Amino acid sequence: MNTARAYNGLELLRLIPGNEEIIEPHLHTPTSLIRDIDRLCTPSTPITDGAVLNLVIKYFFAYVHPSSCPHVVRLEEITRLFQAFSQLNDKTPGGRPRSRTMQLMKQVEFGLRMLADVPKTARIVRSIIRRNLPPSESFLGFDIGTGSGILLLAMYIMARRNGFEKIENIGLEVEDTAARRTRSLAARLEFGLVIKANAKDPRTFLPYKDRKVNFVSNETIAGVTQRLGKEDFTEINQTLFNVFGKPLVSSAFFPERLYAFSPKDKISVQLEPLTRFQPLNAFSSAVLYPQGIRIEGQDVPLDRLGEDLNWAIPDSSRRYLTRRW
Ligand SMILES: C[S@@+](CC[C@H](N)C(=O)[O-])C[C@H]1O[C@@H](n2cnc3c(N)ncnc32)[C@H](O)[C@@H]1O
Repeated sequence: MNTARAYNGLELLRLIPGNEEIIEPHLHTPTSLIRDIDRLCTPSTPITDGAVLNLVIKYFFAYVHPSSCPHVVRLEEITRLFQAFSQLNDKTPGGRPRSRTMQLMKQVEFGLRMLADVPKTARIVRSIIRRNLPPSESFLGFDIGTGSGILLLAMYIMARRNGFEKIENIGLEVEDTAARRTRSLAARLEFGLVIKANAKDPRTFLPYKDRKVNFVSNETIAGVTQRLGKEDFTEINQTLFNVFGKPLVSSAFFPERLYAFSPKDKISVQLEPLTRFQPLNAFSSAVLYPQGIRIEGQDVPLDRLGEDLNWAIPDSSRRYLTRRW
C-alpha cells in the first residue's frame, strides 16, 4: 500500500497534539482520492455517507497537497491538516515563520473553509451525486462560484453515473487565486474546466448560448444573518435565465429551491426555477434573508444542513470544523 509522502510543512504540524480523528475511524477507507472518485463514478457503487465523507476529507487534503491524489493518506495525517487549518489565524509561537503548508492554506483559506464544514459539504455533495437526470448524449453543467471545486467534482461524478458520453463540466469563479488553484486540481483529476469569470456578466455564458444546460449548481448564497443581496445568487440567476431563456426551467439545480425570509412580512419567499429564482413581484423590494433550501426533496434550514451527518464526526473533533452558513 502506498502512503503519502511527508509534505513540506508537516514537520511543524506534527507538533500539534491531539489524537481525535476528523471522521469516525471505522468510516475511513485506505484508498486514494483517485480510486474513490473512480469507484463513485461507477453507477453500481452505492453512495453511502461513508463514501461521501471520505471524498470530502481526502479532497480537502488534496487541495493543499495535490500530489497526494494517487496515494493512500492515513486518517491521522488528514486530521492533522484539519487541526492545523483550525489554527490558521492563531499567532505563531514566538513569532516563528509559518510553515509553507500554513502559508499555502492562508492563500486558499476561503475554499478550505467551505470544505472544512465537513457535514454540510458532504450533505450537498451527496445530494448532487444522487441526482438522476433525464438521459441525453451530452452533459453541460455549470458550478457557479466554484470555490474549492468540490461541487464541480460532485457534478462530474453524477454525470458519469448518469451515463452521459460527453461531459462538459464548467466551474466559474471570480476570485483569481481560488480559480487558479481549483483549475489546476480539476485538470489533474480530470473532472472539469475552471474559468475565472464573473457569472453576473452575460458574456460569461455566451459561448454556450442555445445549448441545453443539464445542471446548475449555484452556491453564492449569503449567510442566514445577511441580506440575500449580499451575495450574487439572484443576480446570477437573472443573467442565466436572460441568456438561456425558458428552456433553463427544465434544467436540474442545486439548490432545488431557496427560501428567503422577510422579517417585515413574517413570510418565507420561495425562489425556484419557475420564477427564475427571483422573488415574486410583491416581494421584489422586500428585505430578505436566506433561510433554507430544498435538498433531496426535503426543506432544510441553512444552519441545520448536514446535521444528519454529525454522528460521523467525533465530538472532540467538532472544533476543527468551520461553518458554511
Ligand atoms: C459560498 S462560496 C461557494 C464555494 C463552493 N461551492 C465550494 O463548495 O467550495 C461562493 C464562491 O462564489 C464566488 N463568487 C461570488 N460571486 C461570484 C460571481 N459573481 N461570479 C463567479 N463567482 C462568484 C466566490 O468567490 C466564492 O468562491
